[in-house]
Amino acid sequence: MNKILTTPISNISINTNDIKDFYVMALESSCDETACAIVKNGREVIANTVASQIETHKTFGGVVPEVAAREHLDAVNLVIEETFQKANMSGDEISAFSATVGPGLVGCLLVGLNAAKSLAIAYDKPFIGINHLNAHVCANYIDTELKPPFMALLVSGGHTQIIHVKSYEEQEILGGTIDDAVGEAYDKVARLIGLPYPGGVHLDKLAQIGNKTAYSLPTAKVGEFEFSFSGLKTAVLREVKNQEKPLSDEFRKDISASFQENVSKVLITKLENACKKFNIKTVVLAGGVAANSEIRNKAFELQNKGYKVYAPQMKYCTDNAAMVASAAYFMSNTYNNLDVEVFSRSK
Ligand code: KG4
Ligand code: ZN
Repeated sequence: MNKILTTPISNISINTNDIKDFYVMALESSCDETACAIVKNGREVIANTVASQIETHKTFGGVVPEVAAREHLDAVNLVIEETFQKANMSGDEISAFSATVGPGLVGCLLVGLNAAKSLAIAYDKPFIGINHLNAHVCANYIDTELKPPFMALLVSGGHTQIIHVKSYEEQEILGGTIDDAVGEAYDKVARLIGLPYPGGVHLDKLAQIGNKTAYSLPTAKVGEFEFSFSGLKTAVLREVKNQEKPLSDEFRKDISASFQENVSKVLITKLENACKKFNIKTVVLAGGVAANSEIRNKAFELQNKGYKVYAPQMKYCTDNAAMVASAAYFMSNTYNNLDVEVFSRSK
């Protein structure tokens, strides 16, 4: 499953070294957050605005694509305006405009993409399209001195991947999930025990006060850098079925802690194995689930083995546009072209 995420498709070149300070304004609208940010030289966030749709989608227990796209349309101009205001900047002072082009919900992506392209045309500046997964990894450049090579564990609602970041521009996926993404597994298990959507963060809170050895849950036997969480989810379902209803608080805490221990162990073990195989001594976490307390604990424990460990600040773990702007600065050869279209799945 060797695949290069970044596909240079354009001969327009932007040499960010030629310009003293490079300001990117980026938009992110791949799922249920409409976000806009301005980032200087890939690492310094000048302004960051996020309009979340979680309250809307809570009613449905998940993201409804058509509803999400309409909400992006309502929010996009507001987040752009607010971001310019916070930064006290105008479009003329922006060096390039950027947006997430995929993977994500097509109707949603189109809103951010078209807004960013329009800004690029209006201000006569380059447009840089960004892969959402690359952007999650690049969140680690914000406020740090992080430099490739490093090994990234990308854990989000839609993806679970180990990515070998060989240089600023080259991210190679070593392996991923063969069924549910880790965030998806969190949200499904959270739902099974009656937690509100999106359940990951609520399950994490319960897990911290539960007994992680209370339930013995299975670990899937899959490839070296692959993951599978559907069997684990079914095992939790079996335990839920064996319980009297309504579920007791003790059960909910203990099953959450046992689930979290199982997931965090398999993720960090495989991340460490990838580092050993490719002789890498720096690891980074990325994606919404990188906010998880136990995944962070176990990752930072790798410091005791001589690894340098990075994880984005909480606000840059879940979907935001600062990470997209950072990716646009460091990976400006990716989709640097006004003809770029959106895509729904990883290519
Ligand atoms: O990266 P993200 O914001 O959106 C995607 O690109 O998918 O990730 C959202 C996912 C959701 O599944 C949410 O439940 C999960 O991240 N999440 C967590 C935590 N905070 C957010 N999962 C486990 N523990 C957390 N603390
Ligand atoms: Zn995301």
